[in-house]
Amino acid sequence: MTIAIIVHGGAWDIPLALHAQHIAGCRAAAEAGWDLLSKGGSALDAVEAAVRVMEDDPVFDAGRGSHLNQDGEVELDAGIMDGRTLDAGAVAAVKCIRNPISLARRVLTDGQHVFLVGTGAERFAQRTGIPLCDPAELVVERERQAWLQQGSKALVPGAGFRPQAAADTVGAVALDIKANLAVGNSTGGTFLKLPGRVGDTPIFGCGLYADNHMGAAVCTGWGEQIMKTVLAKTTVDQLAWLSDPMTAAQVALVYFQERIGGLGGVICAAPDGRVGWAHSTPYMAFGYRTADMQAVRAQMGRQKRQANSAYQVERGEEE
Ligand code: GLY
Repeated sequence: MTIAIIVHGGAWDIPLALHAQHIAGCRAAAEAGWDLLSKGGSALDAVEAAVRVMEDDPVFDAGRGSHLNQDGEVELDAGIMDGRTLDAGAVAAVKCIRNPISLARRVLTDGQHVFLVGTGAERFAQRTGIPLCDPAELVVERERQAWLQQGSKALVPGAGFRPQAAADTVGAVALDIKANLAVGNSTGGTFLKLPGRVGDTPIFGCGLYADNHMGAAVCTGWGEQIMKTVLAKTTVDQLAWLSDPMTAAQVALVYFQERIGGLGGVICAAPDGRVGWAHSTPYMAFGYRTADMQAVRAQMGRQKRQANSAYQVERGEEE
């Protein structure tokens, strides 16, 4: 039996000045998850812990530090899935929750429903002992300034997509000692999204998917494109078919890019603990540790723009 964890801190055109913080945040998240797994903790506990670390780190577009919508507010989405049972929990468009991943976990554990949104999700949080926060707590100065400078220019739906944005969604995939896979993710969504917009992150099959029989994957990038290509399940299907996580991630991303000009990335794990990643964006921050490693490796995946202006899908390579 083996354990493994891989996390990402978003695939986007991440500014160079923020690379070190992204790498450090991914390292801390993967270490938090590994720590639990190495003590016999469950894959679900590990992905929740890893995602919470990144939600609490304001460099990422998740929890505090998230991008603002057109109204200048933070609206958060998160999801979590158990590869053993296929049990799942998700929340979307919540404004008063510091760690939406833990609220999604509560939805999973409660089991009555799979997906709660908006004020209904926040009432469920209160009823189950998760405190609400002041929405202003989630707003950081970097994002407030970005909104003040660009907010008025993006009133056309879709015009707010900002591929050069500082960050994107965070996510984690884990395998525990009982050979159970789990995935979790969290996001503030795209910069200047319309209020009420929900992206791929909390939608099973799109932003995340886990099945012990096949593998597990979480995505990052432009949610509208990821939803249309059901990218997480596409990756897991490739994993089941190809049995190699690196190749599965690359095949899914090539399809994503060629079919729809997809901008994003994916991380994944096979049921035997091998991990894979690929991205079609200039950068993707990620960190991972598998049984044969002595420590977490965290890095910024990167690639160069091609002569035709498109980015090649970058298959995971060691730096
Ligand atoms: N991938 C995050 C979003 O589009 O909301």
